[in-house]
Amino acid sequence: MIRCIAICLLGLWAVPASADRVKVEALYAQHCAACHGAEYEGGVGGSLVDGEWKHGSSDEDVYRSIAKGNVEMQMQAWEEVLSAGQIRSLVILLQEKEHQFREKQQKPPVPAAGEVTKTRMHDYRIETVVADGLKTPWAIAFLPDGRRLVTEKHGALRVIAADGALDPKPVEGTPEVTDHGQGGLMEVAIHPQFASNGWVYLGFADGTKETGPDGKEQTRSITAVARGRIRDHCWTDHEWIYRPDPMFRSRAGVHFGTRFVFRDGFLFFAIGERGGMMESQDLSRPTGKIFRLQDDGRVPADNPFADRPDAIAGIWSYGHRNPQGLAIDPRDGSIWSTEHGPRGGDELNRIRAGANYGWPVVTHGMNYDGSPMTAETTREGIEAAAAVWVPSLAVCGLDFLEGDVFPDWKHDLFSGGLVTEEVRRIRITDGRVVDQEVILKGIGRVRDVACAPDGTIHVLLNRPDRIVRLVPAR
Ligand code: HEC
Repeated sequence: MIRCIAICLLGLWAVPASADRVKVEALYAQHCAACHGAEYEGGVGGSLVDGEWKHGSSDEDVYRSIAKGNVEMQMQAWEEVLSAGQIRSLVILLQEKEHQFREKQQKPPVPAAGEVTKTRMHDYRIETVVADGLKTPWAIAFLPDGRRLVTEKHGALRVIAADGALDPKPVEGTPEVTDHGQGGLMEVAIHPQFASNGWVYLGFADGTKETGPDGKEQTRSITAVARGRIRDHCWTDHEWIYRPDPMFRSRAGVHFGTRFVFRDGFLFFAIGERGGMMESQDLSRPTGKIFRLQDDGRVPADNPFADRPDAIAGIWSYGHRNPQGLAIDPRDGSIWSTEHGPRGGDELNRIRAGANYGWPVVTHGMNYDGSPMTAETTREGIEAAAAVWVPSLAVCGLDFLEGDVFPDWKHDLFSGGLVTEEVRRIRITDGRVVDQEVILKGIGRVRDVACAPDGTIHVLLNRPDRIVRLVPAR
């Protein structure tokens, strides 16, 4: 008992006033390492990275183990010393460490030219679509005649001929984009009736670049959507589909969102919260939202917030951080989105009209510096994610596979990861994630994954910048 009080007092004394700004690594070193090892390998207390959990491995279980402790075994109840947010950040840290430990033991599917890469259901080969000449390719769209359109972040729209040759000249006269931080020219998609109407949609950072009083360049921008047609290699018939009021432009260089899908004549697209966290919860701002508009930009009268005078009528769902994957399940028309979490907490969400996806009031992540954000991972009235990834993958690009080229993967969802340099296969059955597998790893940051009309899977890579595709190994 005396010992316990001593530990508790020591613990209390050791936590400074701004306790919640303490980095999680420091918390661990101070309070946990003595018994669980500096490398989490175990000591008096067990290993925290070997994947063996005596008291359960779920978020809630590990949280409870730390919060309530096991006094008989000399593991104190840390809720007496640490805030809920701090305990939550320790849970995230342990998940990160366990993941790293597991990664070291696995043999990831790293494809090499000319070789077969094996995965659980299909073996594939990788083919290079474009090896050179692209600078930060961001998104790809497939034209009915076999050509492909590719955006480059700095603002160029490129054309790949049906025979695979990259046109050295970008399409002329495309909208001016603000290339700043994570923003620039991002999404490209074609209208579902492109063959008859020729509309191409672009999503990009739109704003101004000015020289500030200090002589430094100042940029203000926000994600916008436009459409046009390409005639004789020129952008023509330009129309704005959604151009937010300039007052919403931000100097931040982060979280632009974008990505488009079409359903029933409507266009859905995302705008990230631009670093303005709480703006995601504010329906009078376009940031941190997924929109639904008619294909020409008009607001559908039956949008969920169309009748609310304080809301932007184009909003379909809110509480998003930075959605950069959007795809429609061809089996039932449901809309799925992946979004970047902070440190931990990337999400896959099923997007429903009017729903709140919780950022930043609930999250499975913490601040990048390892200080806690909140202990809340769920709340009444907030949509729970269909999948959460801790550590974050930096999810980017998302598509369902159609066609019969990879029959055992048909209708699976494929997601890219920038930081993890992976393509992840996700199986969804009856609206739930039932299986996941990393099918490609370690050949560059994956910016976009797109299933081509011929059933092959295109992967846009950054660093090195190129496009490859997965074809079945025969
Ligand atoms: C004085 C030694 C000691 C300290 C300090 C300590 N632990 Fe423990 N911990 C233990 C012991 C012993 C167990 C095993 C208890 C049991 O089996 O019920 C344990 C169990 C756990 C478990 C459950 C493991 C499982 O297999 O389910 C977790 C999680 C955990 N500790 C995390 C922490 C964290 C995080 C800290 C720092 C905030 C910490 N511990 C500090 C001794 C310690």
